[in-house]
This record gives sequence, C-alpha cells and structure tokens, in this order.
Amino acid sequence: MTDRYAVIGNPISQTKSPFIHAAFARQCSQDMNYAAISAPIGGFSEAVAEFCREGGKGLNVTIPFKVDAVMIADHLTERAQLAQAVNTLKFDENAVLGDNTDGIGLVHDIQVRLGISLRHKRILLIGAGGVARGVLLPLLEEGPAQLLVVNRTPGKAEALIARFADRGHLAAGGFADIADQQFDVLINATSASFGGEHLPLPADCFAPDSLAYDMAYGRGNTPFMTQALASGAGFVTDGLGMLVAQAAESFFLWRGVRPDVLPVIEMLIAAQQR
Ligand code: ATR
Repeated sequence: MTDRYAVIGNPISQTKSPFIHAAFARQCSQDMNYAAISAPIGGFSEAVAEFCREGGKGLNVTIPFKVDAVMIADHLTERAQLAQAVNTLKFDENAVLGDNTDGIGLVHDIQVRLGISLRHKRILLIGAGGVARGVLLPLLEEGPAQLLVVNRTPGKAEALIARFADRGHLAAGGFADIADQQFDVLINATSASFGGEHLPLPADCFAPDSLAYDMAYGRGNTPFMTQALASGAGFVTDGLGMLVAQAAESFFLWRGVRPDVLPVIEMLIAAQQR
C-alpha cells in the first residue's frame, strides 16, 4: 500500500514540500504519496489526529504550528527538545516521534553543498526568534570558534543562548556589539527580508571570504544578500538549499534512505525562473 505523508500549516498554498518529496520519492523509488494540509488555527491537533487515523505515516509541520507539534509528540529528539519546535512528526504503531531537521538542513547546505566547514569558524547568527532557536544546537555541534547571536532586542538573544550555555563558545548581544568584528559565516535568521528591510550591520563585519547565508528565499537576491554583496562578502546564498536539505533529513527519518538534494535544488531553481 502507498504510504501517506503531508505538510501541515496555515497558510499552505505556497509550500514547495510536495514537489520536493515527490522528487525524492521518484529518485529513491519509494512508494509514497505526499500532500499539503491546511489546518485551521486552533485545529492543529484534530487535523493531525485525523491524518493519523487515516493511516498517515508522517508529517512536516510548518508555520504557525511548529511549537504546537512539540505537545503532540510522545518523544522528542534532543535537537527538537532544545529548539522547542518540531518540523517533522513520525507516526509508529504506538508512539509519535517529534524531530527538528531545520538546523541540520542548514549545516548540510553550508558544509556539503557549499563546501564550507564550520569548524573553528567565527559565526554571526542574526535574530533570536523561533528560526534562530531551531538552528543553534546543530551549528554549535560543528565546533565553531565563536558563535555570536545578535538581535534587534538584545535581551531576547541573551535569553536564547542561556539554555545552550554549556554547548560551546556562545555570546549574545545587540547590533552595536558587532562593531570592529569580522565573521566567516553570517546567517540571517530574522524575518527582516520578508519586509524588504535592511539590517543595521556594519559593512566591515563582512570579509572578502565571508559567507552571507539568508535562511529566507525567493526570486532573486534577498535584501540581506544585496547588503552583504555591497559590503564585500565573497559568497552569498538564500535558504533554498536549506529548505531541500531539511526535507531530505525528514525523508531519511521516515524512509531510511537519504536522497540527493542537488538535482532537486536545480529543479526548483529552474521552476522559479519559468
Ligand atoms: P521566527 O519564528 O520567524 O523567528 P519571530 O519569533 O517573530 O519569528 O522572530 C523574528 C525575528 O526577526 C526576531 O529576531 C526579530 O527581532 P526582535 O526580536 O527584535 O523583534 C527579527 N526582526 C524582524 N524584523 C526585523 C527588522 N526589521 N530588523 C531587525 N530584526 C528584525
């Protein structure tokens, strides 16, 4: 019987996940079907229960339900526990496993697709919301020399790092704390790109060999990518590769096979340009 999976969120019409997972399933010869479910606000747990009753095997969870999904899981992976957010649910006979593959997706995209090691690097993570929280542990596990988290509201960055304090060389602050520092990898985890806003980053925090990574994506360069290029960053990218890499990790959790992300990223870029 064909196994059923889906992404659940609200709104959901813009999701690329069914396209990505259909491509993975073809590539890995998996007999599975992957749909998109729009759950009403306040109706997340009912929608999940219904999907489960109908024999669903797993879900990707997206905005605004990633925190609600923590409550639904019987067991959480450590990275989901620390992120306090779940983007992948796996339904077994008697239990629901909650995982968060966003951070490992980001790390894979940087280290495997872009070929840039994070070990001993100086990393700047910009933002202290749910997106930043989801990627902190996987970034720290790569052993950077330093990870500075800055946020428009500095207190939120300080509160965020408190629970990761024993995990590596972490510091937190506001944009003023970046003065006179350069970073190897600068990651935008704010929602500023969506409003077309530039971040108050000093131009000299980007070096000629810096990577500027925007976790947002869309057509063309995001405002953060444009700002990084104008400030002299050598490499810029949006988050499309991360999107496909986090999906690949979910697929691996469900199916036990790891798909090749590159052909799927190329298909998405080609579809965007049409
Ligand atoms: P998400 O779950 O997407 O991370 P969030 O929890 O609302 O959403 O967090 C949004 C992040 O983007 C926050 O770090 C926010 O900064 P504040 O905590 O100070 O609000 C950041 N952000 C949004 N718009 C911004 C802007 N124009 N400039 C700088 N930071 C911005």
